[in-house]
Amino acid sequence: MGDGLPETPDAGMEVTGLTEVEPSPVEETPIEFKEEYFPFSTVRSASPTTSVLGLGSHGPAYYLTRVQKYSSYAFTVFTAFHITNTSIIPLLTKSVTESNRYLLLTRPYYQSALTEPLLVAIPLVAHITSGLALRFYRRSQSLRRYGAETRRDKKTIPWPPLSGTSALGYLSVVAVGSHMWTTRILPLYMHGDSSLINLSYVSHSFELFPYLAFGGMTALVGIATWHTVWGWAKWLGFLPSQVTVTDSRRHLIKKRRWYMINAASALVAGLWMAEVCQ
Ligand code: HEM
Repeated sequence: MGDGLPETPDAGMEVTGLTEVEPSPVEETPIEFKEEYFPFSTVRSASPTTSVLGLGSHGPAYYLTRVQKYSSYAFTVFTAFHITNTSIIPLLTKSVTESNRYLLLTRPYYQSALTEPLLVAIPLVAHITSGLALRFYRRSQSLRRYGAETRRDKKTIPWPPLSGTSALGYLSVVAVGSHMWTTRILPLYMHGDSSLINLSYVSHSFELFPYLAFGGMTALVGIATWHTVWGWAKWLGFLPSQVTVTDSRRHLIKKRRWYMINAASALVAGLWMAEVCQ
């Protein structure tokens, strides 16, 4: 070893001939490798950038999640009006005729040319399409991440998982959609007006088709309530999967949250159905 080089651990092991080199931090990956290996750069710049519209440098998932979230706030306002009119007031007055008066009184507030699109139509469309767009965006991200190119590659990569709340969301599209179709859109189309739809009309359908009406109403109220309550639990960070405690209490807290969210859903659905069973 008379060449002046520092001694290496494998000095003298001619068979392997390995030399220990200094570790190179990831940040120092040569630019030519970085760009070739990651064709769609995921490296964020150190300083925050702002787009032309001033929207900041967040990705599509950030904005889509916010659209999904804030649109549900608007629809919740409408739901509060709706549960008051169709459940709480009839329960308090115990009279269909009397409750119809309140229904007619408050209807102009949420069925006007301005409030109905703002509280119902636009938020609903925004909520559903942003959820779908988020799903497709996440799918395209995982295809890109795993480098799927052929159809066969794509088949091996799973779609983003469907949570229970999302599944109830798609069922809500069917349940709430048919409810809107029969009580608002069809009468408007047939008679040019849906004002004949009131609590007496609903009671009448229960007399004519008790099993169908009761089954349909239970499904509608159950699906929509469970979706909404679990949805709100998610926005408030109260889901069992959002527990941040990592010690031995974790399992117990998760379980407790699961029971509390389902109890709250049962309470709201029970309150809504109490009027129907009256
Ligand atoms: C009124 C209050 C509502 C709240 C608080 C709410 C909340 C939520 C939340 C948190 C999610 C995401 C679930 C997840 O990522 O696991 C979601 C998804 C969804 N919601 Fe709602 N929602 C509401 C109303 C509705 C209504 C009325 C409908 C349909 C008529 C609906 C349809 C959907 C659909 C289809 C999805 C699934 C999107 C996807 O993951 O692909 N939601 N909702």
